[in-house]
Amino acid sequence: MTARLLRGRTLSFKSRPQARDDHASYVYEEDGALLIENGRITEAGTYADVKFKSPIGVEVIDHRPHLLMAGFIDPHIHFPQMQVTASYAANLLEWLNTYTFVEEQRFADASHSARFAMLFFDELLRHGTTTAAAYCSVHKGSADAFFTEAQRRNLLMVGGKVMMDRNAPEALTDTAQSSYDDTKAVIETWHGKGRNHVAITPRFAITSTPEQLEAAGTLAREHPELLIQTHLSENNAEIAYTLELYPSARDYTDVYAQYGLLTRKMLLGHAIHLADREMDAIADAGSVAVHCPTSNLFLGSGLFDLKRIKEHGVRTAIATDIGGGSSYSLLRTLDEAYKIQQFRGNRLPPIESYWQATRGNAEALGLVERIGTLEPGSDADIIALDASATPAMKIRMETVQTLEEELFLMQTMGDDRSVRAVYVAGEAV
Ligand code: GUN
Ligand code: ZN
Repeated sequence: MTARLLRGRTLSFKSRPQARDDHASYVYEEDGALLIENGRITEAGTYADVKFKSPIGVEVIDHRPHLLMAGFIDPHIHFPQMQVTASYAANLLEWLNTYTFVEEQRFADASHSARFAMLFFDELLRHGTTTAAAYCSVHKGSADAFFTEAQRRNLLMVGGKVMMDRNAPEALTDTAQSSYDDTKAVIETWHGKGRNHVAITPRFAITSTPEQLEAAGTLAREHPELLIQTHLSENNAEIAYTLELYPSARDYTDVYAQYGLLTRKMLLGHAIHLADREMDAIADAGSVAVHCPTSNLFLGSGLFDLKRIKEHGVRTAIATDIGGGSSYSLLRTLDEAYKIQQFRGNRLPPIESYWQATRGNAEALGLVERIGTLEPGSDADIIALDASATPAMKIRMETVQTLEEELFLMQTMGDDRSVRAVYVAGEAV
């Protein structure tokens, strides 16, 4: 049994902060520590307490003055889009057709997929992201490459073979039946293998026939434990085309509801232009609105209405959406989310943002017993964050007096340079 004690300033969330001074929503220890045994956190508290409870001779790694937090979670990202990021397009549909549907065809090749699985996880970890929910490509082999590499690194990853059978190049389409069969095979091979989780992944209504959404609904009924991921209401032209393709649906949200996909397991990427009825339906179902701020700004998709989403009681998450998104960093993502709410005249306190990137996103994935906090029993996926990572940040830190100010500085000025250490299941990577 290997035991390891991480010493540092520890921060872990207990609940969604209701205000900028909601100190009851988190636990912060100025001289804190985490005991890690067999990949799990077994004790958390003050250094003095945790040291007292640790085995004699335990290895101590001192991360002071850095902040130890649960690793970031990215609940919406595209594994085959590393080389799509920063593609110049007028809007979502042009971006998809001109760049994304071209690039994703390359993942038909197993060696290409294997190479990018390595690069993808390297990049996530460098940015302090220890769990992601990823779209693979339409090719089953891309999911095999994704999960092979995730398992090799002992990462807790969620992924899915994308289901898409129309409105895309032929080389990037499957059929309702083959998408069902391939997803079934991916589930059987990978779900529960190592720390892998498979998600049912119909790309979005435009690229699926009704028969394929039916197949996705069947998979969801056959595997109620699995997450489902798709895109919803990202762009006005997308919404109009969707309603042409599904004329019997009341609205875009209703398309997914009609096929039994609007459930507590559903992750709805973007969810920007929603009517009240749609928000109520999403809230009643317990589905999650996944905000992707860098992507929404980059593609000019729209400004996420966090205030209305919360008023309707919709569960939320925050994600990068690489390659529509422009940064792998959850810190950069929190910064852009803050700016979108500023633009809307709403407040977004930093503690709520950091809750969302850790515990909040774990709750969205239904994985909060495993990840997203520093509570004993959790997997030891931990990051050490440095708010003085650059010369400009260091100078600004001279005037910082509170934890809130420090968190805000780090989300406003920080990126991968603020990530000083990353542990996956207790091992430094
Ligand atoms: N809608 C359907 N596919 C995609 C995608 O790959 N990225 C984004 N941002 N939106 C989508
Ligand atoms: Zn996306």
